[in-house]
Amino acid sequence: MIRPITDADVEAAAALRREALLDAPLAFAASPEGDLGSDPEAIQARIADAPDSMTFGAFEEGRLVGLVSVFRETHAKRAHRANVFAMYVTAAQRRRGFAAQLLEAAILHAEAQGIAWLRLGVSESAPGARRLYEAAGFQAIGEEPDALRHGGQSASETQMALALPRPTVR
Ligand SMILES: CC(C)(COP(=O)(O)OP(=O)(O)OC[C@H]1O[C@@H](n2cnc3c(N)ncnc32)[C@H](O)[C@@H]1OP(=O)(O)O)[C@@H](O)C(=O)NCCC(=O)NCCS
Repeated sequence: MIRPITDADVEAAAALRREALLDAPLAFAASPEGDLGSDPEAIQARIADAPDSMTFGAFEEGRLVGLVSVFRETHAKRAHRANVFAMYVTAAQRRRGFAAQLLEAAILHAEAQGIAWLRLGVSESAPGARRLYEAAGFQAIGEEPDALRHGGQSASETQMALALPRPTVR
């Protein structure tokens, strides 16, 4: 089941985000130290900032197993754009379609808000995530070499964009 997280979910969301940063450090720019997504109060503040800030959760038998956030840009000249962040599904629940459903929820939300461009960056350390985004129609618009460094490794990042609304299939 996919739905926006609520105040009742903030502790579970913070725990899942901490897991994400430990599980896939080169997939995310954030580090565990000082990460807002790992802080229940900061997550609550984001929930209060809806609809410009939305976090969707994937729930399996009531347990939070996946997350994605979509944030509208704050500058007036960029308010036609939103960014997808922090896509994560816990390892035991992967390849069951949760990420695809989370992404679809984020896209539908952005479409409903009149967003023209959905953007994201995907690390070369996350080729599965890149395929997920390509399958949803995102196109690569740029490559950033040496975008992330962690544990003596470097990863490039591909910037991707999806034009909204998506054409309706007839
Ligand atoms: C990337 C991630 C979110 C995918 O979650 P998931 O729930 O397993 O993805 P889904 O089951 O919805 O997969 C949808 C499609 O994405 C692609 N995909 C997902 N994981 C893949 C993998 N490991 N290898 C290849 N393709 C993959 C496939 O096209 C898949 O469709 P299919 O299963 O019909 O082939 C998950 O593996 C994860 O959390 N990884 C670590 C963190 C991360 O990389 N986050 C992305 C940051 S940008």
